[in-house]
This record gives sequence, structure tokens and C-alpha cells, in this order.
Amino acid sequence: MTWNYVEANPFSSSTGSLRLILKAVIEGVSRLPGVGEGNAEQRDARARIRECTERTASISTDPPYYDNISYADLSDFFYVWLRRNLSDVWPDECSTLLTPKADELIANQYRAGSRAQAEEHFESGMAEFMSEVAEHQPADVPATIYYAYKATETKEGEIRTTGWDTFLQAVLDAGLQVNATWPMRTELGNRLLASGTNALASSIVLACRPRPTSAVLATRGEFIAALRQELPDAVRVLQSGNIAPVDMAQSAIGPGIKVFSRYARVVEADGSSMPVSAALAIINDVLGEVLDGEEAELDADTRFALTWFAEHGYSPGPSGDADSVARAKNTSLAGIEESGIGEARAGKFRLYERSELPPDYSPVDDERRTVWEATQHLAAALERSESEAAEFLHVLGGYGDRARQLAYLLYQKANDRGWASEAGAYNSLITAWPNLRTGAATVAAAAAGPAQQTLL
Ligand SMILES: C[S@@+](CC[C@H](N)C(=O)[O-])C[C@H]1O[C@@H](n2cnc3c(N)ncnc32)[C@H](O)[C@@H]1O
Repeated sequence: MTWNYVEANPFSSSTGSLRLILKAVIEGVSRLPGVGEGNAEQRDARARIRECTERTASISTDPPYYDNISYADLSDFFYVWLRRNLSDVWPDECSTLLTPKADELIANQYRAGSRAQAEEHFESGMAEFMSEVAEHQPADVPATIYYAYKATETKEGEIRTTGWDTFLQAVLDAGLQVNATWPMRTELGNRLLASGTNALASSIVLACRPRPTSAVLATRGEFIAALRQELPDAVRVLQSGNIAPVDMAQSAIGPGIKVFSRYARVVEADGSSMPVSAALAIINDVLGEVLDGEEAELDADTRFALTWFAEHGYSPGPSGDADSVARAKNTSLAGIEESGIGEARAGKFRLYERSELPPDYSPVDDERRTVWEATQHLAAALERSESEAAEFLHVLGGYGDRARQLAYLLYQKANDRGWASEAGAYNSLITAWPNLRTGAATVAAAAAGPAQQTLL
């Protein structure tokens, strides 16, 4: 938190101005689906839910997360001024000298005395909150819980959980089942464009219902088999929904946890219950298998290039090794050179970088076209301009979808190796996809339009 510039100029036209704040509120209100009424109360969420009789509390919540933000401390900065001005208007809310802190569900080590006590305060409070949700949520309406993706991070190909597993564990231990998880774009467009490759584009929404009492046990093997059965389709759905590659690993947690939370318990060989943290690791492994499986659908030259790229990137490596990889993929180095993917010189082989590819390449005239070239030319065109990439996508037609699939795989390989700008190129390609499609359709319409249009 940097306190240096807390004041925006309310009369400017930039962020923080009254004009933009009002605009955001108007946009929000204009999209509200129906009529009704609302009321806001400053209460501890647990106490508020407990007041509801039977199952009448429909909960939709964006809860705090460990020590991410000290809301109450931050509020004090403004509260002291509001209190001086608004005590007559809101006597109850302004009755305390500072904002209430004791019930705040965050992990603040200065308040709790130590880091461990702070975590205990947050985790036990959150578990208590989840139990109230499980008890009061009607069975026919899911409780929705928003979570920022940053709860997990990827390092060297592994998902590191930073408390996300503890949080999910609390959800499941409370007797809730995760029926669906939806990645949701909660960031502004400008934030998206500004984001680096590791900045996640979305939040995750968990849709939970009370777990039926009829839920059964499963073995580790059964859980893995169910994942292998269900994850491939789920990944396809995510890809066709154009989920940004940077969000894929996190998004796959959703369908994975949906499988896991369907069982009363997943039993390990020694009879113990599998914790969420172990389930997350297994989900990530199966996701790797699913993505690797997609490789089988690509042409042989592309499969070669993908394997070589994962090992060497665009750097040269021994031609002998390249030859072995090519054979293993059912192609040859001579064939690879012919397809225009890379070159073997003086005992070394290397893949061509995008910047070296001829900008006037035509996939229609290419006698040995590969998905690799389609993807690289698309990414290269996008680096020059969106309209150029859209034109190229138009020429690719349905073949473009394979290029998009390869972009997911390339993102994964580049990200595993920590090649941020390379991973960023594939992430950008996929996030730009809807625009490219629209652009390609416009090109197609213009090409098919009657000649008269030019007269009008
Ligand atoms: C992630 S923020 C929600 C932000 C909100 N969705 C928005 O866009 O402004 C979490 C909120 O939970 C509140 N909070 C913390 N402890 C709470 C408690 N025990 N009961 C209810 N709300 C609490 C915090 O003050 C904070 O406003």
C-alpha cells in the first residue's frame, strides 16, 4: 500500500473523478436485471446469516482473503472525517471512535499477536461462516462465492497454493459441494491490456450447494479415473469459451474440485481422507495429461516443433538430437526444413523465430502447411496489427481453431520454462481471438459483398 497519493482530483476526467465514478455507477445500475429493493447493514456476516430462519439466506459473497487488505484500518483513514460530518445522519454507524476491528475476518498479525494466531483467526472464522452458509442456504439456490485467482500462483509449472486449498477445505468441511466454478472477468479492459503474463484476468465464482447426505466414498483410483473421464470435455469447454491460457490451470481446478467434492470423502490407501491440497495436485497432473493428449491431434511437423520448442525454445541444439525427435514424431529433419519451420546448419538445428518468417506467407499456397506455421504467423501478424491478424485468420478458415489450440499448448510450455514474453505472445493471441474472429468475418463479408456496394 502506498499512501503517497490518496487524493484524486474530483474535477479531472481521469480515474477517481466524480465524472468517472458516476459513469461506473450508471453502467452498473443500467445492467441490473430486475426491480426490487435492497438494504445495506454493517454487520458481521456470520451474525447476519444466523438471524435467517430455516433455509432462507441466499448467499453471494466476495469474502476477504487472509492478509490481502486491512479493510478496517484503511477505512479509518476516511472514517474519522466522515464521522465528524455524518454523526447526525448515521448515529449508529458513527458511534465508535474508529471502525470496528474485532469481528473483521482477515489475518492481521499485528492485531492477533502473531502470524499463526492471525491465520487461525481467519481460518476458523471463515470455517464458521461457511458452516452458517451450509446451514442456511436453500437447497434449490446455489451459494456463490467470488474469489480472486491470485489465490494460487504458478511457479515452474507447479501450482502453488497460497491458502486457496485451506479455503476450499473449509468450504467442503462445512458440508458444501462445489457444483460449478466459473471464471469471470472482473477486471476492467484497460487493466487486462496492461497486465503481464502472470497477471490473471479473472476471478473465480464457486457455485456451492449443501452436499447431499447420500454422497458416497471413493478411492484415490476412482477419483483419478473420474477426473480423466470428465476433465477433457471441461478443458474443451474452457478453451472454446476462450479462457486466457494464463487462467487455464486455475480454471481447471473448478471442474476438478467439482468431481472431488461430489464424494463424501476420497479415501487414501492408508484409510485417511485425501485433503484438498492433494486433490489440487492430482487435478493439475491430470490437466497436464489432458493437454498433452491434445498434442496427438496435431500434424507430425508441429508435434516435432512443439517438443523441440519445449526443450530449446528458438536456441540451436544438436542436429542429431533434432533428428531423433523428428523420427520419434514420424517426420524427418529434411521434411521439417521443407515445411519452413526451422533449419539445420553446421550440426545444429534451430526453429525460426516469428520475426524471421516471411510476412507474405500464404497458407493456401503452402504445399506442406503445418499448425505450427499457422500459429506463428498469426502471432507475428498480431504483433504488427490486429487487422493483419484478422485477415490471416480469415484465410485460415476453420484451420484457425487448431492454431488456437496450439497456442494454449505453447503458452503452457513457455510458461513452464519461465519464458515470459513468449508466453505473453500466445496469451495475447487467445485473448484477442474474439476480436480477430469478428475482424475475419468482416473481411469475409467484404469479400463476398456485391460490387454495387462500392458504388453507393
Ligand atoms: C474482497 S472485499 C469485497 C469487495 C467488494 N466486492 C467490492 O467490490 O467492493 C471483502 C469485504 O469483506 C468485509 N468483511 C471483513 N470481515 C467481515 C465480516 N466478519 N463480516 C462481513 N464482512 C466482512 C471487508 O470489510 C471487505 O469489505
